[in-house]
Amino acid sequence: MSALEIRTICCIGAGYVGGPTMAVIADKCPQIQVIVVDLNEARIADWNNPNFERLPVYEPGLSAVLKRVRGKNLHFSTEVNAAIKDAEMIFISVNTPTKTKGLGAGQASDLRWVEACARQVAQYAQGNTIVVEKSTLPVRTAAVIKAILEASQQDKSTEGNNCNFSVLSNPEFLAEGTAIQNLESPDRVLIGGEDKDSIESLATIYANWVPEEKILRTNLWSSELSKLTANAFLAQRISSINAVSSICEKTGADVREVATAIGSDSRIGPNFLQAGPGFGGSCFQKDILNLVYLCHHFGLSEVANYWESVVQLNNWQKERISKLVIQKLFGTVTGKKLAILGFAFKANTNDTREAPAIKIAKDLLEEGAQLAIFDPKVSSSQITFCLQSDEYIPPIASTKAINTGLNDEGKWWSSKSIEDALNGADAVLIITEWDHFRSLNWQSLATLMRKPAWVFDTRGVVIPNEILKAGLKLWRIGDGVN
Ligand code: UDX
Ligand code: ADP
Repeated sequence: MSALEIRTICCIGAGYVGGPTMAVIADKCPQIQVIVVDLNEARIADWNNPNFERLPVYEPGLSAVLKRVRGKNLHFSTEVNAAIKDAEMIFISVNTPTKTKGLGAGQASDLRWVEACARQVAQYAQGNTIVVEKSTLPVRTAAVIKAILEASQQDKSTEGNNCNFSVLSNPEFLAEGTAIQNLESPDRVLIGGEDKDSIESLATIYANWVPEEKILRTNLWSSELSKLTANAFLAQRISSINAVSSICEKTGADVREVATAIGSDSRIGPNFLQAGPGFGGSCFQKDILNLVYLCHHFGLSEVANYWESVVQLNNWQKERISKLVIQKLFGTVTGKKLAILGFAFKANTNDTREAPAIKIAKDLLEEGAQLAIFDPKVSSSQITFCLQSDEYIPPIASTKAINTGLNDEGKWWSSKSIEDALNGADAVLIITEWDHFRSLNWQSLATLMRKPAWVFDTRGVVIPNEILKAGLKLWRIGDGVN
C-alpha cells in the first residue's frame, strides 16, 4: 500500500469518543468527508438534532464545532455498510465493556462489538482500506482484527474483488469534559502499525493541526500497551492520593496541603492529585483489569496483583464513604432523606459509567435511605438505569424513567433543583465536582435542612467556614482538621 491521501473517513460508533473525535477531524480537515455511523438509531437522531443543546453527549465546546461542520463535511448516519464501502479509512470506536460472564469475566474486555465491526468491514470494504482501532482495547486486539480482515481478503481476491487492509492502533487520550480541548491540542498523538505508508496517511491527517514532534509512531503492540499503561498510571495516582486522604483524616493533616506539597516536586507534578470518592469513567477500571488479565495470562501474578490493588483501593474508597455517612448519622439512614449532589462520574459530562455515585447511592439505598438526586446534566432515566442494574449500562440511555427505589425501604428520585433536594434532608453528599457546587449559598440552604444536618463533601469543593457558619456539620475528604 503506498501512502494514500485520505478523502473519506468512516467512524463506526457514535459515542463519547467517536462523536467528538470525528467532529474535530472534520473541523480541522475541510478537504475530508467524515461520516459517523452507529446501529443505535436514537443516538444518530440525537446527533442530527437541530437543537445543539440536545446532543447525546454533553461536552463543553462540542456544539460550537458541530455547528461549523455538521451537514458540510461531517455526517451522522445509520447506514453502516454503505459508509464502510465508501471509506478509505475506517475508525473503530465501539464499546468495549468488561466481560460480565464467561472466560475472563470481570477482567477481560468484551470484544463482541469490535469483532462484529471487523466482520462488517471485511464484508463491505472496497479497495485499499486503512482500519484504525480507536476504542480502548486489550493488547493484541489488532491481531484479531487483522485475522478477520485477512481471511476475507483471501475470499474476496478469489472472487476477483481485490481488497487490501492495513490495521493501525491510534488510541484516544481525550478525557471527558475536556475532550474538545484535548483533541484540538493533544499532548501527543500515538500511531502504531506495521505498514509505514498507512501510518503516514493517518499522520498526515493529524498534521493539519498537530505539530509533527507530537505525532509519535510505534509498533502496534507498543501503541496498544501505551494506552493501557497511561490509564493505569493515572488511576494509580488517584488511588494513591485517595489512600493518603484516609491517613490525613486520622492524623489531622489536610490532603489538599499534602497534594500541593508533593505536587511542587517537579518529578511528581501537580496534576491528578485531587482526592475524591474514587475514580469512575469507562476507561480506568476496564483498562487496569485488562492489564491484570494480560499479566495473569503471561504468568506475571505479582504484576497482576500490583495493578489490581489500584482497583481494590478505589472500591474501598467508595465503600468507606457510604459507611462513614451512616456512622455520622447515628448509625442509621433508614427513612432519612439524603440529598445527592452530582451523579456523573466527573464534572462537565453526562456520562455515568462506573460513577462512584452509583455504588454510594446503592449502599445507602440498601440501608433504607430516601435519596433526592440532583445532577445538572444526567437525566432521570439514566439514573434509573444505573440504580436498577449491575449490567453494563449504555451510557446515553434514551428509555423512559421508572423512578422507583431498590427495595421496599430505600427510595430515590431525581430532584429538579438543589433546594428541592435539600429540603428536609438530614445530609447532603457532594459527589461530583460541578463548578456550581463550589458557590452555593449555605446560609440559606441550611434553613431547609433538618438539624443536626451534615455536609459530606467527597470532592473538597466547599469552603469549610461557610458550612460551619451556617450551623451545619462538615465531613470533607482528606480533612483531618474540621
Ligand atoms: C481518562 C483518561 O484521562 C483519558 O486520557 C482516557 O482517554 C480515558 O480515561 P476520563 O475517564 O474521561 O479520561 O476522565 P479523567 O479526567 O481521567 O477522570 C477519571 C476519574 O478520575 C474521574 O472519576 C475523576 O473524577 C477522577 N479523578 C481525576 C480524581 O478523582 N482525581 C483527580 O485528580 C483526577
Ligand atoms: P465510547 O465511550 O468508547 O465512545 P460508547 O459506548 O459511548 O463508547 O459508544 C460506542 C457506540 O458504538 C455505541 O453508540 C454503539 O451503539 C456503537 N456500536 C457498537 N457496535 C456497533 C456496530 N457493529 N456498528 C455500529 N455501531 C456500533
